[in-house]
Amino acid sequence: MVKTGYYGEFGGAFLPEILIPTFTQLKEEFARIKADPTFWEEYVHTMSTYSCRPTPLTFAENLTHHFGGASIYIKREDLNHTGAHKANNVIAQGLLVKRMGKGRVIAETGAGQHGVATATMAAKYGFDCTIYMGEVDVKRQRPNVFWMEQLGAEVISVKDGSKTLKDAMNAAFRDWAQNMDDTHYVLGTASGPHPFPEMVSYFQSIIGQEAREQILKYAGKLPARIYACVGGGSNALGLFGAFMDDPVELVGVEAGGKGLPSKLHAARLASDQATIGVAQGYKTYFLQDDDGQMRETHSVAAGLDYVGVSPILSHLSDTGRVRFAAATDKEVVDALRLSMKKEGLIPALESAHAFVQAFKEAPDMNGEECIIINQSGRGDKDIFTVADAIGDPQWEQFIREKAEDYNA
Ligand SMILES: Cc1ncc(COP(=O)(O)O)c(C=O)c1O
Repeated sequence: MVKTGYYGEFGGAFLPEILIPTFTQLKEEFARIKADPTFWEEYVHTMSTYSCRPTPLTFAENLTHHFGGASIYIKREDLNHTGAHKANNVIAQGLLVKRMGKGRVIAETGAGQHGVATATMAAKYGFDCTIYMGEVDVKRQRPNVFWMEQLGAEVISVKDGSKTLKDAMNAAFRDWAQNMDDTHYVLGTASGPHPFPEMVSYFQSIIGQEAREQILKYAGKLPARIYACVGGGSNALGLFGAFMDDPVELVGVEAGGKGLPSKLHAARLASDQATIGVAQGYKTYFLQDDDGQMRETHSVAAGLDYVGVSPILSHLSDTGRVRFAAATDKEVVDALRLSMKKEGLIPALESAHAFVQAFKEAPDMNGEECIIINQSGRGDKDIFTVADAIGDPQWEQFIREKAEDYNA
């Protein structure tokens, strides 16, 4: 018998008793909207009038010529309002919150994209909003913190543990347990306890539905392979969903950080260093030590810097349906530079992980084949990190002069 909320042996909802009524309400409401076609209609209408759906599928002609193999297409989730696929999930959860009659939303964020998207949604629908963010991420994503605050959200810097995404998620769960009557936790990815993995993948499935239709229209055939970066798993599952039953190879790319041997990475499924465990309310592969303590992870891309991964992806990895690879920080910056120079595209550092793997494989594919890379977000937010990595002297001088202006 298949247990609800499980994908193979992964998933479940390991919750403190106090949260059970809230999760029951959420599961019931999710079941109701899934069965109600007017919800999906309202969602698509909102996304097409408030965000930029359908997002384009761009033929990357110059990159295709550069590599000389498969035709490269790029799904442009960066063109969503607030600059990433995160908008899909938060707007859908916002519509759900309205139906549940709650007035406050909370969220965790790593790169800050999900925080900005949630603060935007809260402003639009008139909800109070609190965002939890690890102290390390607050520092490296200051522009996003600025926007969250301007949009009216309270941003709480989490100083526990490694001060990154998992710690922000723990803090958000603590808040929820204390305020569940009026508060909804807008979880930002396809991880966490049931029903979040299923619910977030369902909302993000709009990416793959559009991409499948677009590639059939533009290329006249299905892609041979499709690539997406993997943090918690939402943009990957959103793209993969519509191709699951097709003869299409699905490739998830994780953060290789400073390289797998260094152990400073977030490659849960692309390395053999993660083991199965239960944490943050669900069962999946975690990067943990022999005592079950979560290891520190590292990535140049804050949004991929997470110890766990969607239970759905853990299952799809074990069954072999999705292949996983890792891209190092250095490879990511190189791929980003190439995309800027050849196509005028600025993918987020997170998205650039998918570009790395696609660029490695495209030259060996034949010219009749095509591939899709998901550009999950835009890179403008990464200007500080990228400028540092590239070592641009003029940027350094600009920052120094700005600091002098402030001190004057
Ligand atoms: C632009 C972008 N892409 C990808 C991710 C990773 O999240 P997920 O794996 O849920 O798509 C993030 C997370 O913050 C992000 O901001």
